[in-house]
Amino acid sequence: MLKLTRRTILMASAALAAALPLALGPISASAQELPKLEKKESYKVGFAQTESNNPWRIAQTQSMQDEAKKLGHQLVYTDAAGSAAKQVADVNSMIAQGVDLIFLAPREEKPLIPAVRAAAKAGIPVILLDRNVDQALAKAGKDYVTFIGSDFVDEGKRVAEFLLKEKPDGAKIIELEGTTGSSPANDRKKGFDDAIAGKAGFEVVASQSGDFARDKGRQVAESLLQAHPDANVVYAHNDEMAMGAIAAIEAAGKVPGKDIMVLSIDGGKEAVQAVVDGKIAAVVECNPRFGPKAFETLKRYADGETIEAWVKNVDAFYDKTNAAAEVANAY
Ligand code: AHR
Repeated sequence: MLKLTRRTILMASAALAAALPLALGPISASAQELPKLEKKESYKVGFAQTESNNPWRIAQTQSMQDEAKKLGHQLVYTDAAGSAAKQVADVNSMIAQGVDLIFLAPREEKPLIPAVRAAAKAGIPVILLDRNVDQALAKAGKDYVTFIGSDFVDEGKRVAEFLLKEKPDGAKIIELEGTTGSSPANDRKKGFDDAIAGKAGFEVVASQSGDFARDKGRQVAESLLQAHPDANVVYAHNDEMAMGAIAAIEAAGKVPGKDIMVLSIDGGKEAVQAVVDGKIAAVVECNPRFGPKAFETLKRYADGETIEAWVKNVDAFYDKTNAAAEVANAY
């Protein structure tokens, strides 16, 4: 027979509270106070991953698993397989399992907010990893502990600054956006578009989502290259789409790096090698090795420290000046 303890009731009502807003739409109000994390030798920690269809995600998961193992924590891992609804269900299942803390890489900025609040209501702190939620609707220190990740706006800006320097006379740009509604797609677009706005001769001739995926990136690049034969730059929001774009450029009988400059973000081995080979001009790194910083932040929180709203990752930059030396260190 099910024993109804206060914690069981709290967890069940929190799981229900998280499920309802997804069905009904509106995002409910914040939890009043963030749950604390008891000091323990080892924790049962949830990691709600968004998908695992690319090397960046695989490297991130590996880093979390390695660090949890090294420190003797139990990691409850879920893969939302690219579905925000599944990720909400994954967080609810972690709440029901009574994990001590949840690391969440929210697929999109809005749909995961009710699940974040449900965890807080159940007494489980949440740390956002690599992707953020909508900052107009939820806040660090109130709804979740902190966001650990890169400055995506700055990543887009750094790509634009490279382009402005390399092609001072202007460019016709095809932009391959990441997953619609995700913080890296929104911010990488903003950082890049703002930096070229008003610069004479620079124009984004088409901008469309390739969902951070290689095949989708290739398909979108193929049709945009056909529609805009005068485009001479592809800016991809991640390496997977950049590699897809390279395939599309070659299929169109053009030479990546010569006829069309390719710019990317992430810094995986394959893309850094493509810089060495001259097919990609520059890659801004977005470091996926979150494990050490994630668990160090967990410990700081358990120790009673007030955690800053944003634990920022510092990212490298690869171009022809350093790619050959750095390729071995890339993930
Ligand atoms: O949130 C980070 C982004 O998500 C990476 O750039 C991308 O490759 C991944 O899917």
